[in-house]
Amino acid sequence: MKKLLVVFFFLSMYIFAQKFEGLAKTPPMGWNSWNKFGCNVSEDLIRQMADAMVASGMKDAGYQYIVIDDCWHGYRDSLGFIHPDPNRFPSGIKALADYIHSKGLKFGIYSDAGWETCQSKPGSRGHEYQDALTYAKWGVDYLKYDWCNTGKLNAKEAYITMRNALQAAGRPIVFSICEWGKNKPWEWAKDVGHLWRTTPDIIACFDCDLKDGSLGILQILDREAGLRIYSGPDHWNDPDMLEVGNGMSVNEDRAHFSMWCMLAAPLIAGNDLSNMTDETKEILTNKEVISVDQDSLGIQGFRYSEEDGLEIWFKPLKDDNWAVCFLNRTTNPIDINFAWREHRIVDSVFNKVADFKTTTYKIRDLWVKKDIGRTNKDFTEVVPAHDVVMLRLSPIK
Ligand code: GLA
Repeated sequence: MKKLLVVFFFLSMYIFAQKFEGLAKTPPMGWNSWNKFGCNVSEDLIRQMADAMVASGMKDAGYQYIVIDDCWHGYRDSLGFIHPDPNRFPSGIKALADYIHSKGLKFGIYSDAGWETCQSKPGSRGHEYQDALTYAKWGVDYLKYDWCNTGKLNAKEAYITMRNALQAAGRPIVFSICEWGKNKPWEWAKDVGHLWRTTPDIIACFDCDLKDGSLGILQILDREAGLRIYSGPDHWNDPDMLEVGNGMSVNEDRAHFSMWCMLAAPLIAGNDLSNMTDETKEILTNKEVISVDQDSLGIQGFRYSEEDGLEIWFKPLKDDNWAVCFLNRTTNPIDINFAWREHRIVDSVFNKVADFKTTTYKIRDLWVKKDIGRTNKDFTEVVPAHDVVMLRLSPIK
């Protein structure tokens, strides 16, 4: 009988364990070290980025998490507990987390489901419960969990193990699944993590498909488009972190940021926050564009039409509003002439309709930050090369 109870106890822990609910009702916003700094992380850098997140207005715009990616790790001690690299993080991770919390921000860290991370640092395999406990003690709020060096592990099981470990450690931690879409996490990860990477690594290139598998903005966008039915509050498709400010043109950065907002993607900046041009800052902190991403309905937008390199995307928003994005994929400017009243926009997945014959909408240009008329007149505009025109429509009642 006693044995049976013990078995039942462990079985129920497995069956009834779940992720921490409600930690990501809108897509998480923050900053991560990888895209700009790679392995070159240190406590000085991370503190500097936390300071800059506040000073630059990013915090005010809604960014919250400061996440150290790969390479913070030092060694496992004789009991198997993980320690940071003592040269890079001499004050320890707890002190760093405290500092970040003292700025009103949240703190994230990175590990890997395999034996080693992608940069050959110690992975969490076999140490999941121990690592979760350590993160909880340090004050971690967000864990990005990678998929390198996992051999024949089953992805769903490996991520469930870490989810259960986090749950057992007791501290609410956003769980960011990063297996690059290899095992279709959208089909099984809704109750495991709060977000899951859908695609290989992003690079700061608008239209690129590299031999090593990494992808440009348009290539990721195309892969993400079919996955909208899987995404929503507390369980987001993640097309990878932002490359705004990392070398593309201002037009391309604006288009990248706009499309990530149309996708209701997590907005994790990946640039040097302490050294931003005015244009980069303006893109990353445009509150009206961010409000499209952070809309409480949490519906991922969809491609409504495409013709000669011009795409029109729609995203249903709360209060019967819509976001519309005209995306120019080509290297030449494109004239748009959009006769609203000839279109009826139907989102059959989320049951939303915009019928411009029966309803007139006010039009707000979200980059120009101006009201520019109504949908009872045709819309004419030029979309520069590799750029967007992004609008919010609100019904006139
Ligand atoms: C993988 C991930 C990246 C980054 C690196 C770190 O490639 O997809 O986002 O975390 O590992 O090594």
